[in-house]
Amino acid sequence: MTTDLKSKINMDKLPKHIAIIMDGNGRWAKQHGKPRVFGHRNGVKAVRETTEAAAELGVENITLYAFSTENWNRPRFEVNALMSLLVETIRSEVATLNKNNIRLKAIGDLKKLPAKSYKALMEGIENTKNNTRMNLILALNYSAKWEIMEAIKSLADKIENKQLFAADIDEKTFESELSTKGIPDPELMIRTSGENRISNFLLWQIAYAELYFTPILWPEFRKEHLYQAIIDFQNRERRFGMTSEQLVK
Ligand code: FPP
Repeated sequence: MTTDLKSKINMDKLPKHIAIIMDGNGRWAKQHGKPRVFGHRNGVKAVRETTEAAAELGVENITLYAFSTENWNRPRFEVNALMSLLVETIRSEVATLNKNNIRLKAIGDLKKLPAKSYKALMEGIENTKNNTRMNLILALNYSAKWEIMEAIKSLADKIENKQLFAADIDEKTFESELSTKGIPDPELMIRTSGENRISNFLLWQIAYAELYFTPILWPEFRKEHLYQAIIDFQNRERRFGMTSEQLVK
């Protein structure tokens, strides 16, 4: 089934950036009569498969929503487990990332992560910084509203310090203040687990993204699910506000 689906992908029309809201770990664990943390642990396998599939295809960027600013409100035990899992996963996967020429990056209010997680993350980023095949971007302690507010504050600072005129602000200036600076906007955003929401993820950057919602729970997400999402994306007509007739096919 995997190869079948893969062969249906048009390699000339691959999205350059796929963003994923990995949802449903808790429900998957519950279905298995296990604690929520069991779901997160099994979510790592899905992260691995998705990263591998995207790199094999030639997708240049994937961004995974791993921890939102709102996730701090979860039970202390679960937050700690997620942070430990992050450290463990980064440490154990760096060699594989290097072997596959994948660069780790992160977006979010990273300095507020626990010291251990921050350190592991920075080491992972540093150790993979020369890789060029694909960026694996983890959104950690991230929320789009936070990111937009930070960009506004930074622009206001520049105006106050006379480095910038308000009248000169355009989309480019604004985008250069976002944590995704230099990375193309996601063309495809996937959310698993049957929830049809964006949940404060990359709000500016998804202005024209195709949204793909699947009922699959994140720990069950495999290569063929990614292929399916890409095929669906490729079968859509992206008009960017124009009419069908205006589009050069
Ligand atoms: C959402 O499921 C998942 C998360 C908040 C955490 C995602 C983390 C991982 C997949 C593991 C670590 C990842 C990396 C990159 C090291 P949920 O808990 O909201 O599920 P529910 O909606 O069913 O309760």
